[in-house]
Amino acid sequence: MKIVILSRNQNLYSTRRLVEEAKALGHEIEVIDTLKCFMDITSAKPAILYQKRTLSDIDAIIPRIGASITFYGSAILRQFEMMGVYPLNESVAIGRSRDKLRSLQILSRKGLGLPKTSFAHSTRMTKNLIKLVGGAPLVVKLLEGTQGKGVVLAETNKAAESVIDAFRELHADFLVQEFVKEASGEDLRLFVIGEKVVASMKRKAKSGEFRSNLHRGGVAEKVKITKTERATAVKAAKAMGLSVAGVDLLRSSTGPKIMEVNSSPGLRGIEEVTGINVARLIIEYIEKNAKLGKVKTKGLG
Ligand SMILES: Nc1ncnc2c1ncn2[C@@H]1O[C@H](COP(=O)(O)OP(=O)(O)OP(=O)(O)O)[C@@H](O)[C@H]1O
Ligand SMILES: [Mg+2]
Repeated sequence: MKIVILSRNQNLYSTRRLVEEAKALGHEIEVIDTLKCFMDITSAKPAILYQKRTLSDIDAIIPRIGASITFYGSAILRQFEMMGVYPLNESVAIGRSRDKLRSLQILSRKGLGLPKTSFAHSTRMTKNLIKLVGGAPLVVKLLEGTQGKGVVLAETNKAAESVIDAFRELHADFLVQEFVKEASGEDLRLFVIGEKVVASMKRKAKSGEFRSNLHRGGVAEKVKITKTERATAVKAAKAMGLSVAGVDLLRSSTGPKIMEVNSSPGLRGIEEVTGINVARLIIEYIEKNAKLGKVKTKGLG
């Protein structure tokens, strides 16, 4: 097969591993810099131009689109889809997963466990937002945050009010969430391919910190997951319309609660911690599912 990886940098671990495994399985593979692609969107015959050539005869595309270029990356991916190229994850599904609020709404409609979450526009709603999630302690989260940066724990209602008012003053979009205390600074990352969890790890926050992000000093280790956790992750990926997803869960006293469904999950941590060849499993999934000229269209809104 002829496979393309949409990625900004061919030296990134995940990109390198996918190239390695595709080659090992006898495929032709090329890394294409998303931002260097361009296109004539009104052409009756959709095409992508890249480095003075028109890309053609591609069977499958692996999108690795960073959060900061979601808009342009999705447009490029959509163009490939219109050319009949099989996308590992579809552009609409990536769009859904990048919108935290929309994701929570979709997952909630499927009856999946989520931390109680509230959201409002008006400044007069601060007290109601706090009340809706059951009061402090609670977490206030910037919708645009990553690596734990925009996540604040407010231990009292007074602190929560101050944080919410401060975010409003900055015109930042945020949500207010029940603090799942019993997770004790740990969360799970379940790596889903197709309808299977193929690898999972636990991330533990450093002491005195509730955020388990590796960027905040957290450490990752192997973990044995329960049947319910496995089923929750598979359902979450499916609800989002993602073939490949990194599902982040908190272990709460009432079962798994989903924090996020990531559409371009990194391979480094999960492969290093588990020793599982996730990159190969992704290529094998593409081999099984990419049918020439057939683009999937599935999913909710
Ligand atoms: N409601 C919560 N209760 C307990 N701990 C939480 C809660 N929300 C987040 N955390 C902790 O904070 C960490 C960071 O939160 P989250 O994953 O939502 O934000 P992020 O990592 O900054 O963003 P993203 O995952 O979208 O890149 C989580 O990994 C988890 O350890
Ligand atoms: Mg996170």
